[in-house]
Amino acid sequence: MRDELHVVILAAGAGRRMHSARPKVLHRLGGRPLLRHVLDTAMRLRPRAVRVVYGHGGEAVKAACEQYAAKDSAKHPITLVRQARQEGTGHAVALALVGVPAAARAVVLYGDVPMLTAATVAALLELPQELAILSARPADPDGYGRVVKEGGRVVGIVEQKDAEPEQRRIGEVNSGVMAGAAGLMRELLDAVGRDNRQGERYLTDIVALARKRRIEVGCLTVADAAEVAGVNDGLQLAAMERRYQLAQARRLLEQGVLLLDPARFDARGELVCGRDVRIDINCVFNGAVTLGDGADIGPHCVIGDSTIGRGVQVRAYSLLEGAVVGDNAIIGPYARLRPGADLAERVHIGNFVEVKNSVIKPGSKVSHLSYIGDSELGGDVNIGAGTITCNYDGAAKHRTIIGDDVFIGSGCELVAPLTVGDGATIGAGSTISRDVAAGCLEISRAKQRSILGWRRPRKPDGAQKDRAKA
Ligand code: UD1
Ligand code: MG
Repeated sequence: MRDELHVVILAAGAGRRMHSARPKVLHRLGGRPLLRHVLDTAMRLRPRAVRVVYGHGGEAVKAACEQYAAKDSAKHPITLVRQARQEGTGHAVALALVGVPAAARAVVLYGDVPMLTAATVAALLELPQELAILSARPADPDGYGRVVKEGGRVVGIVEQKDAEPEQRRIGEVNSGVMAGAAGLMRELLDAVGRDNRQGERYLTDIVALARKRRIEVGCLTVADAAEVAGVNDGLQLAAMERRYQLAQARRLLEQGVLLLDPARFDARGELVCGRDVRIDINCVFNGAVTLGDGADIGPHCVIGDSTIGRGVQVRAYSLLEGAVVGDNAIIGPYARLRPGADLAERVHIGNFVEVKNSVIKPGSKVSHLSYIGDSELGGDVNIGAGTITCNYDGAAKHRTIIGDDVFIGSGCELVAPLTVGDGATIGAGSTISRDVAAGCLEISRAKQRSILGWRRPRKPDGAQKDRAKA
């Protein structure tokens, strides 16, 4: 039974200092809600059950948990426990432990402490004592509960608000993480009162109660206090975000990714890199992004939920969302790939080109100032500067199908629905609204006229002079 583990996640607090309508545990770290980080840690411990205590912003927290659980219901046994009024951490844990087998192990985590690793919690669970706490020695212990020890043994935890001046000088603090036999924790919690400055039922009081019963309390101290840092306000969240990003950047650098500046790098999701990937400064990666071997990402690019092939160059200031880019393609500078942009190998997308929901086959080029939407381009197509697909008639979207080896001159409008056959050529400046047969030259340009001796309108003399002076 001892190895049946139940994880309790406390997430009912208001998080008032965030000054936000969003529940604190749903604020994001590295692109994911704080609570998700904690749920991931909980799941890594392979628990029998996870109980999330929610209250403030209840519906949103509940929805986030349900969404998480739905990912794979068999593997994510999450139960929600509502704490209508926040009467303290002890009250919250007592609610969560209802119905948990007495012999099971319970571990308490906080929804607003997202950097804690499963390895640390596992180490805490390894301690031989029936009850154990995780402590830390932060540079500034202000605000935390202090761990009171006698002869090296934990005898109690005193909250800062209730602490005597000399207790406040203690540098070892309670992280809030606690592990113990569920039955024992429940019994001790029954005896916890509200006799404190906040009038709350403190979970931490069970430590002194255990000592009174001569039950030894174990204590593990984390090596780096940052691991158990909580988020209470925007400043702390921002500082944690930097630490989180730096840790990710270090991991990538260790894997051989050439990050030009780890301090100017953000991955808000999962970034997977091949060998010899180079990432210039100030890039942001959102969601699931894969960069193939030798991919080279220029400065100031934003890439979300995209798969980038081998040897691809994404040049400065490009924005890619939901795109697939084939090997050795060149994207940007200043390119925009929107969802459904599916580019084969060696495709070139140049500056100020937008591609949406379009398949582009190998070797095709759209080099300047174009919009390609709801289209299929064959291989080795060349689209001239400023050519656009007119895919929308105000009511519905239509497709443009362009064959292999098509050459489209600059400044064309391709009015969909439209099919252009293989090898066709379209003259610059054409508006094409009928299908084009394979191999022909299609042109719909207005005839050029010359008006000889035409006089350009002139401003009166004075005005002309004034302008020259200015
Ligand atoms: C708590 C600990 C303190 C520790 C600190 C670490 C207690 C009494 N004190 O203090 O020793 O150093 O955390 O950060 O446990 N919550 C509920 N329901 C409640 C009250 C709180 O779910 O009724 C949740 C909060 O959302 C939060 C966590 O429990 O995630 C901790 O509560 P908080 O009020 O932040 O406790 P602290 O005063 O920080
Ligand atoms: Mg707190």
